[in-house]
Amino acid sequence: MADSELRQRKPHAAEDPIEPARKKKSPQQLVDEEEKYTYWIDALRVITFLFLASCALSYWISNGESFFWGQKNKPNYMRVDWWKAKMNGPLYLTPEELSAYDGKDPSKPVYIAINGTIFDVSLGRHIYGPGGSYNYFAGCDAARAFVTGCFAEDRTPDMRGVEDMFLPLDDPETDAQWTAAELEELKARELAVARQRVHEALKHWVNFFGNSKKYHRVGFVKRDEGWLEREPRRELCAAAQQGRTKRKPRHGGEK
Ligand SMILES: *[C@@H]1O[C@H](CO)[C@@H](O)[C@H](O)[C@H]1NC(C)=O
Repeated sequence: MADSELRQRKPHAAEDPIEPARKKKSPQQLVDEEEKYTYWIDALRVITFLFLASCALSYWISNGESFFWGQKNKPNYMRVDWWKAKMNGPLYLTPEELSAYDGKDPSKPVYIAINGTIFDVSLGRHIYGPGGSYNYFAGCDAARAFVTGCFAEDRTPDMRGVEDMFLPLDDPETDAQWTAAELEELKARELAVARQRVHEALKHWVNFFGNSKKYHRVGFVKRDEGWLEREPRRELCAAAQQGRTKRKPRHGGEK
């Protein structure tokens, strides 16, 4: 009621409908608002200070391991090691250097490599470190083991011949359903499919580590030119070999 009376007495108030509220403010109201404003700025300053102080204290108490009191599964950007890895650029380690990061030394991070890329898996130390079920992968590039499932035998990035695990076994009886030329063509198709499956299987794990919120990329494995050719050819490991089946008979069994 009092407001509308006031407005009627002041012609300007009606002329400016955009900012009617401001016109009505008394000097006291303006002072109050000013105080409210500085109060918020102060509060924000205090909160920011407490936040940074907390980070600093956490960093100090955790010996430089965490800004956030060791909270588990925090996003990468909240982690000290992630920032360190970002700032320092990628690491280039030889296979020998990489082997020092197998988790035996508790003061060192745990690294695994896959297809030449090194990932820090320290947050999974209980599985990748000593005694963990994936310790086979620590300190080396065991790309082959990721695909064959032969953890102990296949701690190597040598993927040659892994496609055999996806190839059907020859069987004279079944294979007699095709002419020699047809069989050759069929085998070429099977080989292309098998190679694709190896690629997909490896890619699955490369993406798993690459997209992980827990683990992060730290660099690459440095190898001498032509290292692969100097490695002896490996047999397909027994478990993967046992998973192979005979070629399926021709559709309807027709000749
Ligand atoms: C593995 O690395 C090679 C060469 O760096 C690349 O061409 C290939 O696509 C990679 N494979 C996967 C599955 O990421």
